[in-house]
Amino acid sequence: MRIHALPSQLINQIAAGEVVERPASVVKELLENSLDAGADRIEIDVEQGGIKLIRIRDNGSGIQKDDLALALSRHATSKVGSLQDLEQVTSLGFRGEALPSIASVSRLTLTSRQADTNSGWTLDGSDATADPAPVAHPHGTSIEVRDLFFNTPARRKFLKTERTEYSHIDSLLKRLAMSRFDVGFTLRHNQRETLSLSPALTSSDRDRRVSQVLGNAFLENSLFIQIEAAGMRLSGWVGRPTFNRSQADMQYFYVNRRMVRDKVVSHAVRQAYQDVLFHGRQPAYLLFMELDPRLVDVNVHPAKYEVRFRESRQVHDFIFRTLQRELAETGIEPQGDMAPGDNTVNLVASELASAHRFEARPLNLGVSDRRTAYDAAFQVQRPQNQLRADASETSGAPPLGFALAQLHGIYVLAQNDAGLVLVDMHAAHERIVYERLKQNFEQEGIIAQPLLVPVTVAVSEHEANLAEEAGELLNELAMEVDRLGTEKLLVRSIPAKLQGTDPEQLLRDLLSDMVEYGTSDRVRQEINALLAGMACHGSVRANRKLTMDEMNALLRDMERTERIGQCNHGRPTWVQLSMDELDGLFLRGQ
Ligand SMILES: Nc1ncnc2c1ncn2[C@@H]1O[C@H](COP(=O)(O)OP(=O)(O)OP(=O)(O)O)[C@@H](O)[C@H]1O
Ligand SMILES: [Mg+2]
Repeated sequence: MRIHALPSQLINQIAAGEVVERPASVVKELLENSLDAGADRIEIDVEQGGIKLIRIRDNGSGIQKDDLALALSRHATSKVGSLQDLEQVTSLGFRGEALPSIASVSRLTLTSRQADTNSGWTLDGSDATADPAPVAHPHGTSIEVRDLFFNTPARRKFLKTERTEYSHIDSLLKRLAMSRFDVGFTLRHNQRETLSLSPALTSSDRDRRVSQVLGNAFLENSLFIQIEAAGMRLSGWVGRPTFNRSQADMQYFYVNRRMVRDKVVSHAVRQAYQDVLFHGRQPAYLLFMELDPRLVDVNVHPAKYEVRFRESRQVHDFIFRTLQRELAETGIEPQGDMAPGDNTVNLVASELASAHRFEARPLNLGVSDRRTAYDAAFQVQRPQNQLRADASETSGAPPLGFALAQLHGIYVLAQNDAGLVLVDMHAAHERIVYERLKQNFEQEGIIAQPLLVPVTVAVSEHEANLAEEAGELLNELAMEVDRLGTEKLLVRSIPAKLQGTDPEQLLRDLLSDMVEYGTSDRVRQEINALLAGMACHGSVRANRKLTMDEMNALLRDMERTERIGQCNHGRPTWVQLSMDELDGLFLRGQ
């Protein structure tokens, strides 16, 4: 075949191949346009999972009558006008491709009315050369997309059932709605309202939206954070390590209000959780990052799900350090604040309680003042000689209370103001020892061990350059690396703690981390794994009898230890059973 220019319909259909994968992708593009137009109310109607109809109506700025045809033509946009604009784009769209692409694979109608005009205008996407026709329409824009892929049967075959397509739309909308709390969204499927999110302007409204979208359990088991440093800001909710998932399905990350899936970001988050998360489990989070738009390239992916950071190492470090610090808090709130749902292990506790829940029978035991009754019946044994001077003295017992007994040589039972505390003594001790070892280690720094015979490693030129540039970081990690030639490196030392590790493998892993994520924490990770192993072996074994004083000392140590909510393997170390939960077990007061 000779070379020939493609007809514009086919060009648009090719572009649609990248952007319009399924009905949910149409919804994404249309919603982003509405948000770019400044709408704060958006209604979405879909029929048959969006395959038959998607209609989106907004109250945004609208489109001028004379621009309607342009909106449907390729490479036409109101959002950027120069390379400079493109390099600091703050709108969600900028390619000027979405509408023509969608129009080329569906029956599209565009209707709009601007605020200062007294009529709306509508244009049929199949003939953009026709004149717009006047119609009654409120301020804003409606776009109707019917019969998606009607003219591209091969594409149509990839569509799943109506239910599946609808569920993609539902999760897309939820994800997008988290980026704009100030905007209200309504979703209807086959004329039935399925989701309604009113604008969330106060913090309690925002909490409500978060729990509507991610569930109440997430909200109750996450920390709200807000940190600013070096021109970057990270805010949002991070799930506590014990609230983890088998899938990465509760991970929401936004960069300058754009939802992204970015490997630098997800690696940084994973690393922050690594010390506290049970092996193979996934953390849950909803995080927003803000930074100078000139430092993020958004023009790297047609559907704009990926971004590229100019300073990826800096971004990685910022996210990692911030989250690691936040997750390090002890998780033990001072007495009185220990409301149900407020601590790390509450989920575990409530699961435990529900596992024992009986059929609710009305049974009135007639206990009115139960707290007093318990107190009288159950004198706590308090150690006389110690710890009465703890910070929380004012409110009586320290957060984890005082030990009562040891159960089967495994668990310590303690009473605090909220009720009963159960501690897995090995798990708790393991975390305490591990944190101590890490602290000692941090103070000493990583000590280098010169290799008797330096090891030559053949690498690519790019990797060699990288190693040279990152010399300082490598030295910090006790890796002394020289460049021998364009594609050759020489490892002279490795961390003393990692003696016996293959230096070549270690260097290769480090470099590949740096290529991928702009930085590497591998040495620290390996050393931490080593310390964790030492902690595990060095901590109290099950079946060791502890004296009352030892048990109380353990509780006090726990209160002072970072990340105490989980052992080194991410298992919970302690559980609170509140009086209410205990009462529930015995149907008291029901
Ligand atoms: N809901 C809307 N309200 C107001 N203007 C709109 C709306 N939808 C589209 N437009 C206008 O139509 C133009 C074309 O939209 P389209 O989505 O095709 O491109 P874009 O948003 O500029 O870039 P991208 O292809 O990256 O989405 C937009 O630049 C905007 O001016
Ligand atoms: Mg757009």
